Amino acid sequence: MKIVVKKTKEEASAYVAELFSDLIKSKKNAVLGLATGSTPLDVYANLVQKYEKGEISFKDVKAFNLDEYIGISPTHEQSYKYFMNVNLFDKVDINPENCKIPSEFVDHPEQRGNFTVYKDYDEAIYLAGGIDLQILGIGLDGHIAFNEPGEISDYTHVAVLDQSTLEANSRFFDSIDDVPKTAVSMGIKSIYNAKKIVLLALGENKANIVKQMLESAPTGQIPATLIMDHIDLTVVLDEAAASKLNQ
Ligand code: F6R
Repeated sequence: MKIVVKKTKEEASAYVAELFSDLIKSKKNAVLGLATGSTPLDVYANLVQKYEKGEISFKDVKAFNLDEYIGISPTHEQSYKYFMNVNLFDKVDINPENCKIPSEFVDHPEQRGNFTVYKDYDEAIYLAGGIDLQILGIGLDGHIAFNEPGEISDYTHVAVLDQSTLEANSRFFDSIDDVPKTAVSMGIKSIYNAKKIVLLALGENKANIVKQMLESAPTGQIPATLIMDHIDLTVVLDEAAASKLNQ
C-alpha cells in the first residue's frame, strides 16, 4: 500500500484527479469505478476542467458506480445517479449508456444467507474488462461503498444503512427520516477485484477512522480494513485526515 499525504484537500483531490487523467490518457476505453459523497467532489471538478481544456476525453470511457439508494428515482436530487450527472457525466463527453449504477441490475436477485445479491452488476463489470481504477471514500464507521460494519457481502447486494451512516447522510436531506434505509452496493470482492484502488479521505472528522483503518488488523467491523492488502492500493489523505496517525 502507498500512503500519500497532501497539505490540503485541494492538493489531495488534484493528486487523485491526476491518477484518473493519466489512466484515461493511456487507455481511452478505461473502466472507472466511481463514488459519490463529498469526498470525490473536487476530483470530479478537476476532471471536468481537464476535459474542458482538451486534455482528456471520456468518449470511450466506461463508468461503474459503487452504490445507489433504493426507493428514490434517478432524477431525485439526492440519488447518486443525479449526483454523478450533475458533478461529472453531464459536463464531459461520456456516453450516458456507459454510465452504470448497480440499481439498474436488479432483475436476477439471488438469496445468499442474509443478503440479496445482484451478480448481474459484477458480471457487467467483468464483461467490460474489470475496473481499472476505483475511487473510494470512507464512512465515519469505516464503511466502503455501503458495506457497513458487520454487514459485509462479497458481491453487489442490498445493504441496510447503519444508524451512523443515516445520520451522516441526513445532511443532504430535509430530515433523517427522508434518508433511504437501504441501498444497492458493490461488495468487498466487487471492489477488491479492481486493478487499482485509490481511497481518498479528507478532513479532521475522518482522522479517527483513517487511523483505525491503517492500524487495525482486517476486521468486518471496520470494512475498509478488508481491502488494505490490495495489490495496488493508494490511500490519499489531506493533513487533517492524517493528523491522528503515529499518535
Ligand atoms: C459513496 C460511498 C460511500 C462514501 C462514504 C463517505 O458512493 O460509497 O461509502 O464514500 O459514505 O462519504 P463522504 O465522502 O460524503 O464523507
